[in-house]
Amino acid sequence: MTQNSETNTKKASGATPERQKIFSGIKSTGIPTLGSFLGAISNWEKLSAEYDCLYCVVDLHAITIRQNPKELRDYGRNMLAWLIALGLDPEKNILYYQSQVPAHAELSWILNCYTYMGELGRMTQFKDKSAKNEDNINAGLFTYPVLMAADILLYQANLVPVGDDQRQHIELCRDVAGRFNKIYGDVFTMPEAYVPPVGARIMDLQTPSDKMSKSDENANGCILLSDSPDVIIKKFKRAVTDSDNTVKFAEDKPGISNLLTIYACMTGKKIAHCEAEFADAGYGAFKQAVGEAVAQNLAPYQEKHARLMADIGELDAIAAKGAKKAAEAAEKTLAKVKEAIGFVV
Ligand code: TRP
Repeated sequence: MTQNSETNTKKASGATPERQKIFSGIKSTGIPTLGSFLGAISNWEKLSAEYDCLYCVVDLHAITIRQNPKELRDYGRNMLAWLIALGLDPEKNILYYQSQVPAHAELSWILNCYTYMGELGRMTQFKDKSAKNEDNINAGLFTYPVLMAADILLYQANLVPVGDDQRQHIELCRDVAGRFNKIYGDVFTMPEAYVPPVGARIMDLQTPSDKMSKSDENANGCILLSDSPDVIIKKFKRAVTDSDNTVKFAEDKPGISNLLTIYACMTGKKIAHCEAEFADAGYGAFKQAVGEAVAQNLAPYQEKHARLMADIGELDAIAAKGAKKAAEAAEKTLAKVKEAIGFVV
């Protein structure tokens, strides 16, 4: 790369051209599922070799829905412990709680003044959540995407790994960043949604047409990473299949195909190989084998998670260190923003 084009890249992206930044916010309420592990989190571990990665447990977003204080704290710590247990090394990634870095709330206020009511009113997640929480349609729920934009823009992130349900929020973030940059110059890097290379799409065990997610009414459809071996095997035994009793990957066999995908992920074998392995087996034996493979695979992660949760002091210290690193980066952007707007800095 010539001197010139290097400077151009720098100018265009607003970040150093050598290493791009990845930012993702993780909801703190709830336990990760087998679906989120195989579909997303398992890919993140490798990203730190190539990118500067920040993962933020978004507890400020969590309070847009009423939370019990003890549970909020517990869930936050559990989530952080899961991220580490699943392979995110806190030395190689910045891991922290959103509420420990004040710049998120500060930039969020500022960006509120550059976001239109009409834009926020169109957000499908806002419409869905207000329908579900009719008695608490608070202003935070409405401005949720602005805080999310602040999360991303604070770190000048290039790439944001998110599920399809969050694409609209990324678009909004880009609109707001573009609007701000148009007024004040090149302050924010324009982020993009990041689609990981191959993340497996794991479906609900009871309704295999839907993605596995913990918000499902039927708890049997979803494997939580904290599920005990007994519970895991029981849930797989109850998994919905079909009536032709052949273990084969096919479009008209969504239940069995999903189980094959899971088994292949757990064993590292090709789908065809898995089909051959169970060619003479009935569904009962196949489901048992998938359940056992999942239970066995999750055991070391569960042990690591338990060890991390056994020393809360140490876990909180890891988070505090992460917050310090995050705050340093965030403060730089915030200073740029304040200067641009005309605050006395
Ligand atoms: N809204 C995201 C979700 O529901 C979580 C989130 C908050 C996020 N801030 C973010 C994701 C910033 C990516 C980047 O999953």
